[in-house]
Amino acid sequence: MKVLVMNGPNLNLLGTREPEKYGNTTLAELAQGLVTAFPQVEFDFFQSNHEGALIDRLHAARDEGVVGIVINAGAYTHTSVALRDAILGIQIPTIEVHISNVHAREPFRHHSYIAAVCVGQICGLGIQSYHLAVQYFINQVA
Ligand code: DQA
Repeated sequence: MKVLVMNGPNLNLLGTREPEKYGNTTLAELAQGLVTAFPQVEFDFFQSNHEGALIDRLHAARDEGVVGIVINAGAYTHTSVALRDAILGIQIPTIEVHISNVHAREPFRHHSYIAAVCVGQICGLGIQSYHLAVQYFINQVA
């Protein structure tokens, strides 16, 4: 089973960026942790700081037999109608994840443009948010 894990702006800085909020794990280590934890899953990882590149990657997933998408859209979560429309348009089950608990932070992080078009949202559990999202797709396929 194929799962696409997408990360948006500034998540390439994981490990050094605001470690008190996002921890010390780098994006590469996060990816390796998923590969190790879920050997039965064929992962594709994609990170971009550009909204259009994220949208293009979502569109491409339509032809790839992806069973689910895990997306941490970073700050675009709170700003991007275009990302929401892309998720809606591709009709692939998508889970929104965040490392931090966005609901316990600044008010502008409380609203997500993508939450309503995702299967669900997992936040505040550190990098475990990603693991739990992948586990959901495994359970769905089993
Ligand atoms: C984040 C939360 C967002 O509000 C923020 O802009 C990020 C990271 C998280 O994983 O906690 O870049 O998505």
